[in-house]
Amino acid sequence: MLWVCGAVYLLVLAFLGWAIWRSRHQTGTAPQDHHMRAGLLTWALIITAGIGTLATASFLVDRALAAARQEDALIIRITAHQWWWRITYLDPASGAWIETANELHLPLGQTARLELAASDVIHSFWVPNLSGKLDVIPGRRNVLDITPQRVGWYRGQCAEFCGLQHALMGLDVRVAPAEEFAAWLATQAAPAAEPPDTVLARGRDLFTSGPCAACHTVRGTGAAGQAGPDLTHFGARRTLAASTLTNNRGNLQGWIVNPEALKPGTLMPATELTPEDADALARYLAWLR
Ligand code: CUA
Repeated sequence: MLWVCGAVYLLVLAFLGWAIWRSRHQTGTAPQDHHMRAGLLTWALIITAGIGTLATASFLVDRALAAARQEDALIIRITAHQWWWRITYLDPASGAWIETANELHLPLGQTARLELAASDVIHSFWVPNLSGKLDVIPGRRNVLDITPQRVGWYRGQCAEFCGLQHALMGLDVRVAPAEEFAAWLATQAAPAAEPPDTVLARGRDLFTSGPCAACHTVRGTGAAGQAGPDLTHFGARRTLAASTLTNNRGNLQGWIVNPEALKPGTLMPATELTPEDADALARYLAWLR
């Protein structure tokens, strides 16, 4: 910005100087030329002062914002993928990283420091009712501090065109009172429970022995894939496929069996299942809360 604006500024001054030189050498010195020259000089001074003030203010505000960062902020790493969000919390209690996806939970009134990264292309993190947008760029970690002031659900959306399903790269954001958030985080930190009946156990076995486990993790089981969202507590999320559909068993079965029909271009392949197996798998995932 400095170099581009500097170049434009010098160019404008060069034209100004040239105009003054030309008026002096071509038409002689008419009385009104003095007025014109004074007017031009006045405008040049006004513009210089205006731009100088803006540049100084921007510099100082940026420094103040950086200095105002709270040391006890909750650290949350968000990685944008085509077309979903990996969300990892640094648990202040245990110091462990807790991974989830597509649903961001924030404690009310506490500053959360979002460290934004991208795995593939440029995305943009945007929750309009909480903060301005910030680009998410591969190879960089951009930092966004948010201090939510009102309890509720918020809608987030990728705001930089990132491929076929850019429009379906949504994000659910939950702002909750501190105790509720702490309880939620403790739940997320726990591994998945042991299925209590045979149908759920069948779903679990399908998940861990089938293709699901190659891409997804369910902590507490053998499934430890890293390519897709962590599903350890998937059943508690409001939506599936990055805010594409309401999270219920009907949508879930449809998504598992034919994701391409719901989100064309998605990197999740279809899974061939008998109706009974699809039902058991969906029941298991919905039960993971
Ligand atoms: Cu990610 Cu648009």
